[in-house]
Amino acid sequence: MAMRKITEGVHWCGVVDWDRRVFDVLVPLPDGTSYNSYLVQGAEKTALLDGVDDAKIPLLLETLRDVPRIDYIVSHHAEQDHSGALPALMAWHPEARLLASAMGRKLLIELLDLPADRVVAVKDGETLALGGKTLRFLYTPWVHWPETMSTWLEEDGILFSCDFYGAHLATSELYAKEGVRVYRAAKLYYAQIMMPYAKQVAKSIEKVSGLGIRCIAPSHGPLYDKPAIVMDSWREWVSAPPQNLAVVAYVSMHGSTRRMAERLVDALIARGVSVRQFDLATADLGEIAMTLVDTSTILLGTPAMLNGVHPVAANAAFVINALHPKAKYAGLFGSFGWGSKPLENPAALLPDLQVELLPTVLARGLPREAEFAALDRLADTVAAKHAAAGLAG
Ligand code: FEO
Repeated sequence: MAMRKITEGVHWCGVVDWDRRVFDVLVPLPDGTSYNSYLVQGAEKTALLDGVDDAKIPLLLETLRDVPRIDYIVSHHAEQDHSGALPALMAWHPEARLLASAMGRKLLIELLDLPADRVVAVKDGETLALGGKTLRFLYTPWVHWPETMSTWLEEDGILFSCDFYGAHLATSELYAKEGVRVYRAAKLYYAQIMMPYAKQVAKSIEKVSGLGIRCIAPSHGPLYDKPAIVMDSWREWVSAPPQNLAVVAYVSMHGSTRRMAERLVDALIARGVSVRQFDLATADLGEIAMTLVDTSTILLGTPAMLNGVHPVAANAAFVINALHPKAKYAGLFGSFGWGSKPLENPAALLPDLQVELLPTVLARGLPREAEFAALDRLADTVAAKHAAAGLAG
C-alpha cells in the first residue's frame, strides 16, 4: 500500500483489511478494519510506530521498501494485530531497537520470542528526540491491556493512541468525517473492546485531554483531524449515566420464552421504556454490546435446559458479564418443563455486574394470564426504577 502523508515527516504506512470479518474469534467486524502503522522521520532519527497483523507483513514491508533506516520501532500494544509484524521488521532492520512500556517489553518478549537485548522499556513521560520531532511516551494502561501506551508527537500535536480511540473500519478516507458510519464503528469498537475497562479508559481520557491534541492517529480505522468527534463520544460512553433503555435478550426452543419476551417488550413500551429486543439465536454480538453502552436494564429470557439455563443464554450472559456494562438492573424470565430450579439463580449469570436484581418470572410450559400479569408487573418495576433514577430517554 502507498504511504499517506499526514504532515511533514509523518506518514501513515499501515494496511487496510477490507475483508476481515471477525476478531479474536469473537468480535464481529462488519466493516473490516485497518492496522495503522506510522513513520515519523526526524532530522536525525526515524521511528516506526506499531506494526500490523502478521497476515499483512508482506504489504507493510513493501510499503517501507524505500525507507533506508529505522532507528526505533515503538510498540504501543503487544496484541498481535499490531505486534505480529515486529519479528519480521526487526529482522528486516537489524539496526532498530524496539521501544515499549515496561509491561509491554515483558509481553512482547514472551508472546513473540523477541531477542531481549533489542527490546527497551521506556518510562511514562519519557521523551525521545528524533531531530525536530519529539516523541513523548504516555502510559495508558488497560486501554485495553495492562501494557498499553500512547505516543505524543509534541511539535505536530499528534496523539498516536493505538487501540485507544480506535475503530474497526476499513475505509479509503485517511481522516474520519463526522457521520453515522464513523460514529457507529467507533461505538461498536468501544463497546466490544473498551467497555470492560471503562474506569481505566476514563483515566486515560483525562490524561490526554489537556495536551491540546490537533490529530488523533489510532491503530484501527481513520484518523481524527477533528479530535472532538471521537473524544466527546468516548467521554460520553464512559461517563454518562445509562438511559431509559432496556435490553430484552432471549432464546426460545418451542416459543414459550419468546411469547414472554414479546409480552415484556410490549409492556415496557407501553410504560414509556425504550427497548431493544434480541433473539439470541441470531442476534449480532456487536449490536448487543453497542446497545449495552446505554442500557439501564438487562432482561434475559431462557428456557431450562440441561439442568441450567439454555447454553445460548449462558453464553450471552457470560459475554455481557465480561463486557461489564453500566446497567443498574437485571432480571430473568423463562419457561421450564418439569422443574424451575435451573432458572432460580439469576445472580449466578451476571456475577460481576453491580445490578439490582428484579423479580424472576417463570412459566411452566406455555405462559398464561398469571405469567403475563407477572411480566406486566416486571415492566411496572422497570419503568418505576427508571423514573426514580431520572433516566433520560
Ligand atoms: Fe488492536 Fe488490542 O489490538
